Amino acid sequence: MVKKYFIKTFGCQMNVYDSNRMAVMLEEMGLKKTQNQRDADVVIFNTCHIREKAAEKVFSDLGRAYLIKQEREIDGKDTIIGVTGCVVQAEDKEILKRAPYVDFALGPLRYFRLKEVVEEVFNEREKQLLDTEFSAVSKFDFLPENKSESGCSYLAIQEGCNNFCTYCVVPYTRGVEVSRPVEDVLHEARRLVQTGSLELNLLGQNVNSYHGEDASGRERNLAYLLNKIAEIDGLQRIRYTTSYPADVDDDLIRCHKEISKLMPYLHLPIQSGSDAILKKMNRRHTRDDYLRVVDKLKEANPNIGMSSDFIVGFPGETDEDFQQTLDVVNRVKYIQAFSFKYSRRPGTPAAVMDGQIEEKVKKERLQILQDLLFSYQTKFNKDSVGKVMSVLFENKGRHKGQLVGRTPYMQNLHAEADSSLLNKIVDVRVTDASTNSLSGEVL
Ligand code: SAH
Ligand code: SF4
Ligand code: F3S
Repeated sequence: MVKKYFIKTFGCQMNVYDSNRMAVMLEEMGLKKTQNQRDADVVIFNTCHIREKAAEKVFSDLGRAYLIKQEREIDGKDTIIGVTGCVVQAEDKEILKRAPYVDFALGPLRYFRLKEVVEEVFNEREKQLLDTEFSAVSKFDFLPENKSESGCSYLAIQEGCNNFCTYCVVPYTRGVEVSRPVEDVLHEARRLVQTGSLELNLLGQNVNSYHGEDASGRERNLAYLLNKIAEIDGLQRIRYTTSYPADVDDDLIRCHKEISKLMPYLHLPIQSGSDAILKKMNRRHTRDDYLRVVDKLKEANPNIGMSSDFIVGFPGETDEDFQQTLDVVNRVKYIQAFSFKYSRRPGTPAAVMDGQIEEKVKKERLQILQDLLFSYQTKFNKDSVGKVMSVLFENKGRHKGQLVGRTPYMQNLHAEADSSLLNKIVDVRVTDASTNSLSGEVL
């Protein structure tokens, strides 16, 4: 019988990308994807360590996976349980102690070994395999060629982070910044377009510090790469994420004026609007630096919509500091944003700072911030009503005959549409809007 695999992904887009690449490897081994965990012979949890809640959720999922494994055993079926991603890197041997039924655990830089590891476990079914080496080798050199799953694909061009924001685990889980060579990125981009992608989203933990080498060994920046990628025939939309404000240079800003395939939307996290907090966070930008970058981007493309990440309740954050964050929101008028209560992460400098904020205060501030963010997001969506927008349909909707896609501004839009329009870009007139989605009529 054909063996099946099930992958559950937590965390950021980089993890989604990694999961897709693991799926390609498993398919090359002859396994087929299933959405039903109970049918799966190989179950993988690709984990995230960014906040405590995300990291802890994995263990309840793992516990459930073990129960399913035992039930399947009664029917004579074997199940391999694997864990990958940032929790593995952070917890190392502890993960196997806490979940002794896990068959293998691979860090985010080591999953290129997946085929060999799954084979070993299938054949020997004995020891718990763990690999969290923080290697200098680039995993990308060992992965099979990528292929597109839908009209819109992620493409990792850079991994790791040297910024060491004092609250963040990423530099410890993904390691130092590594940029993939220009030619490798272009090769993968062309293949993704050839296999059906109309949109590419270039990924990196600090994507705009990209400095990959070209064929002659010269270091090139993100702006150079974006221009090269824009030349690919058949590719219609380009995005990149996540950018670090201090690394937005004038070349990159010019791209937003000159590259028509570049979508008019940018996720540029500020985290806090207070200079005192930004300093304690070890961010290399002030509030004014950030606002200047936003002004320049809006000058380059007046239609650009901004998005951001925010953390409330960072150690030492006063009401005054928090007010400054609200003030930035009122200035930039984000069309979308992600906001979080500060979560104390073991091993990071902020976890042991004085002035930790009470949960109650964090909760109140988050509510106030989100109400404000949602008001701008709702207004932007409502202002879209009546407009014609190009939509890339990516999925079937909840109701029959419905497709769901994204506008250039990353708004979710659903419309009555024939399934032949799946993975196509079509003009849609927006007819209705709420905080989180739009509906429309295909023209
Ligand atoms: N590289 C990106 C994103 C990293 S993680 C960047 O620099 O912006 C995504 C978001 O999670 C961050 O932007 C931050 O807002 C949030 N985050 C990271 N660590 C956190 C913590 N300890 N508590 C709460 N939110 C956190
Ligand atoms: Fe984390 Fe800061 Fe790096 Fe983003 S820039 S990944 S928040 S350390
Ligand atoms: Fe989470 Fe790792 Fe991404 S900690 S946010 S999965 S880089």
